[in-house]
Amino acid sequence: MKTIKLKNKQINYSILIGNGIYKSTGSILKKYLIKKRVFIICDLVVFNLYKKNLSTSLKRSRIEAIFIPIKVDERKKNIATVSTLSSKLLSFNIDRKDTIIAFGGGILGDIVGFTASIILRGVNYIQIPTTLLSQVDSSVGGKTGVNSSYGKNLIGTFYQPKLVIIDTDVLNSLPRRELLSGYAEIIKYGIIKDIKFFRWLLKNGYKVIEGNNNAKIYAIYRSCIIKAQIVEADEKEQGIRALLNLGHTFGHAIESLNEFKKNIIHGEAVAIGIRFATKLSYLEGYISNLDYNKIVSHFNDIGLKNTLPKNLNNISAKKFVSEMLKDKKAIDESLTLILIKRIGSAFIKKDYSQKKLLKLFKEITK
Ligand code: GLY
Repeated sequence: MKTIKLKNKQINYSILIGNGIYKSTGSILKKYLIKKRVFIICDLVVFNLYKKNLSTSLKRSRIEAIFIPIKVDERKKNIATVSTLSSKLLSFNIDRKDTIIAFGGGILGDIVGFTASIILRGVNYIQIPTTLLSQVDSSVGGKTGVNSSYGKNLIGTFYQPKLVIIDTDVLNSLPRRELLSGYAEIIKYGIIKDIKFFRWLLKNGYKVIEGNNNAKIYAIYRSCIIKAQIVEADEKEQGIRALLNLGHTFGHAIESLNEFKKNIIHGEAVAIGIRFATKLSYLEGYISNLDYNKIVSHFNDIGLKNTLPKNLNNISAKKFVSEMLKDKKAIDESLTLILIKRIGSAFIKKDYSQKKLLKLFKEITK
């Protein structure tokens, strides 16, 4: 099992990465719990697949487990779901010595983390992410939240978990499409911070998608190390943490304009967003033709296509850009974008003019 420590003045927790470790959740958890009672909030699919093993492990360690399965998707990632979940937890008389566990993908983790941060003004929580995307991104770093009709993730908190348990075993039941969606976030780390990792991905990325265990562990480990370093330096996204948003302002606009329909899932929208950001970086003269082609070819080779949903094919630049402006990062009508200088080095471009983006929109998105 590999361990990454996330530590600065305010934060101190571990990310454990291994194969089959969720089966030892009980013995792992013992030292993290104040009281031996946990509320396990999981999505229905995860509940049906893993409840038995998890319950057995917790029972062995004499930990009382209350499972709360909930149905989640991007459209249910809202304040109403948080309210229902909070009532459920309160109906069990949850107290501040209890621990909440988010056992599921990124949407579930964001909802549960947010609920944990506000219920009784904050109860300890642990993330056990079950999708590649949540393992390499959303379960680490303490961003929690839900969507609003005004945009994605606009209601939320920074609230760090006490522990993250990443088990590559649970990825075996994931459809290829979900793995690819998570892989988009993995490539992101190579592009923004680590050319060596990017080169490793060019050679070995397909093994991650094919389920090679060593490749999965390495890709997740490397991604989490990069994320941990960035979060340690800038937990509240006052500076470099914004690099992690490469492609996301474009991606969130795609998801919102598509009304969060399932023909495009989060990582797929991010993948398209990263392509748009790469193209914009090229058109602006920041990135070389060579690096541009390397990034785009890898997306193509791995199977992350550049296909906007049909209904967005002819979307006007104006509509798209005004959706981008709903992003949290937009300030006073100007955009903050993450652009790329070269593979392994991204930067924050503040005050990117709307007019320029409108002009280049056709070129970026073709
Ligand atoms: N997903 C981007 C971040 O955690 O900052």
